[in-house]
Amino acid sequence: MACSKLFLSCLLLQLTFLFLVPEVAHGQGLKVGFYQKTCPNAEAIVKEVMGQVMSVAPSLSGPLLRMHFHDCFVRGCEGSVLLNSPTNQSEKNAIPNFSLRGFQTIDRVKTALEKACPGIVSCADILALVARETVLATGGLSYDVETGRRDGNVSILNEALNDLIPPTTNITILKADFAKRGLSVKDLVVLSGGHTIGTSHCSSFSDRLYNFTGKGDADPTLDSKYIARLKLRCKPNDQTTLVEMDPGSVRTFDIKYFDLIQKRRGLFTSDSALLDDSETKAYLDLQIKTGGSTFFEDFGVSMVKMGRIGVITGTAGEVRKVCSKVN
Ligand code: HEM
Repeated sequence: MACSKLFLSCLLLQLTFLFLVPEVAHGQGLKVGFYQKTCPNAEAIVKEVMGQVMSVAPSLSGPLLRMHFHDCFVRGCEGSVLLNSPTNQSEKNAIPNFSLRGFQTIDRVKTALEKACPGIVSCADILALVARETVLATGGLSYDVETGRRDGNVSILNEALNDLIPPTTNITILKADFAKRGLSVKDLVVLSGGHTIGTSHCSSFSDRLYNFTGKGDADPTLDSKYIARLKLRCKPNDQTTLVEMDPGSVRTFDIKYFDLIQKRRGLFTSDSALLDDSETKAYLDLQIKTGGSTFFEDFGVSMVKMGRIGVITGTAGEVRKVCSKVN
C-alpha cells in the first residue's frame, strides 16, 4: 500500500539496492594496510621472499599471478585453491588447475610470515600480495593491495571445473562471467592483459590448430602464419610442451600481448574474442596506439577489484597456519 503511493521512490530504492549490493558484497571489510598494527612488516616480508624466489625462478611469475585469479574465480578470494584433499577432491585436483605451479612459494612466504607474526596473515591475502610482486618483478607498476581476507575451509573440485573459464570461451560468456563477479568489460580486457607473462600448454589451444570444428581444420580467426609456427612446436595431442604466450617478452609485463591479439595471434579463443566487442577492441586499439598509456595503472585497479570477489572477512573463516590445510 505504502509502496503503491510512493511507487517511484520504492522503485528507485530497489534499483539502488540492485546496483549497490554487488559492490557491498564484494570487498567489504578489506583495506589497504590491514596488517599495519598486527604485523607491520607483513608486506615487506612478502616482498623479500618473492625477491629471493624471482631471482632464482623467474618463470614462477606467470603461475603465481594466475593462482590469485584461479583463487578468486572459485568461491572468491579465500585461499581455497591452496587446500589439499586426502581424496584428491579439492580445487587443485581439477584439470584447469593441473597447470598451476608455485604452491611451494606460497608455503615459503607463509612460513616467513608465521615466524614473524604467528596466525595473523591469511593465505588468501598472501596470494593477493604475491600477485602484486609478480607484476612488479616483471616490470609492471605497483599498486596498493587491499588486505583483511580470511581463509575459507572448503575447496571442491567440481566448483573449479564449473567456475574457471575455459580458453574456448566467447566474448558473450566472458563478459557475463566477469559481470557476475562484479567485474566490468574493461576489467575483462585489462586483466586478460595478464597473458603478457607466462606460458601455456599446447593442449590449451591445440583445437585451434588441428580440430577447430571437429573436421581437422584450424581456426580461421587465428593468423595462418602463426598457426604454421605453432604447429612446429605443438604436435597433435601434445599434453606437455609449453609455449610462450607473448613470445620474446614472456617475462616482461608490457602491452605486446595486446599487439599480438590485434594481429590475430592471441593464443586462446578467449583472447581473440577481445576483438569481437567494440569496448574491448577500442581498449586494445588505444593501448597499442598510445604505447600502453593507461594499461599499467588500469591493471592495478582491476587486480584490486578482482581481489574483492567473494572475500571472507571479520571473524568468519580462519587464518590458516599452513596454507594447504585447514586448522
Ligand atoms: C579471461 C579469462 C581467462 C582465460 C580463459 C584464461 C586462460 C588461460 C589458460 C588456458 C592458460 C594456459 C594454462 C596452461 O595451459 O598452462 C592461462 C595462463 C595464464 N593466465 Fe589466464 N586466463 C584468463 C584470465 C586470466 C587473468 C584474469 C589472469 C590474471 C590477471 C590470467 C593470468 C594468466 C597467466 C599469468 C598465465 C600464465 C601461467 C603460467 O605461466 O604458467 N589469466 N590462462
